[in-house]
Amino acid sequence: MKHLIAPSILAADFGNLQRDLEMVNHSVADWFHVDIMDGVFVPNISFGFPVLAAVNRYAKKPLDIHLMIVDPDRYIKQFTDAGAANISVHYEACTHLHRTVQHIKELGCKAGVAVNPHTPIAHLSDIIEDVDLVCLMSVNPGFGGQKFIESTYRRIKELRFLAQERNPSLLIEIDGGVNHHNALSLVEAGADVLVAGNTVFSAKDQEEAIRLLKNLSPF
Ligand code: DX5
Ligand code: ZN
Repeated sequence: MKHLIAPSILAADFGNLQRDLEMVNHSVADWFHVDIMDGVFVPNISFGFPVLAAVNRYAKKPLDIHLMIVDPDRYIKQFTDAGAANISVHYEACTHLHRTVQHIKELGCKAGVAVNPHTPIAHLSDIIEDVDLVCLMSVNPGFGGQKFIESTYRRIKELRFLAQERNPSLLIEIDGGVNHHNALSLVEAGADVLVAGNTVFSAKDQEEAIRLLKNLSPF
């Protein structure tokens, strides 16, 4: 399978959100990555349901929702009602991760688990069969535009090895600091989905930046 590209709208121009969403609609991107931050699980607040409703109104590609919030169970239904295709919750934020994952699937969404850079991959061994995707954080969650953490390459390989037997169709998504220099190596290491915020939205030609991430060649 060719890898997927998920522009992170956290880096979009919120004063021109419709324009930026239409740019992504028109591009070769596969998903919209939507970062929800609560100011508790992460030291930043992004946006909530009214903005998500606007995103859902214009977005013509699946919404990949990344919940950086404590106790996400309380809001799963609202996110599915708001148009989510995928919902990822943080391993570090869920006391009853298995229950939360089942809840997401029962509501008809694909379920993902996101992991912070310091969380051992081995901790996923008893949830890996139940999820559709693992979102490997390649920065500490909370902000766009941060520096990529190099140990991600090793973590992708470890995760691919772990998933080999238990969930061969697992999607591995990389989130944070993805750029034109590391994208090819990430896909070669085993990444299936690349999230990109700043690399897309700070580019002069945003559609071309997406196209370059999709049709990778050595930079
Ligand atoms: C970080 C978010 C990322 C972020 C990526 O907490 O989860 O999705 O928007 O932005 P860039 O690609 O700029 O690192
Ligand atoms: Zn994210």
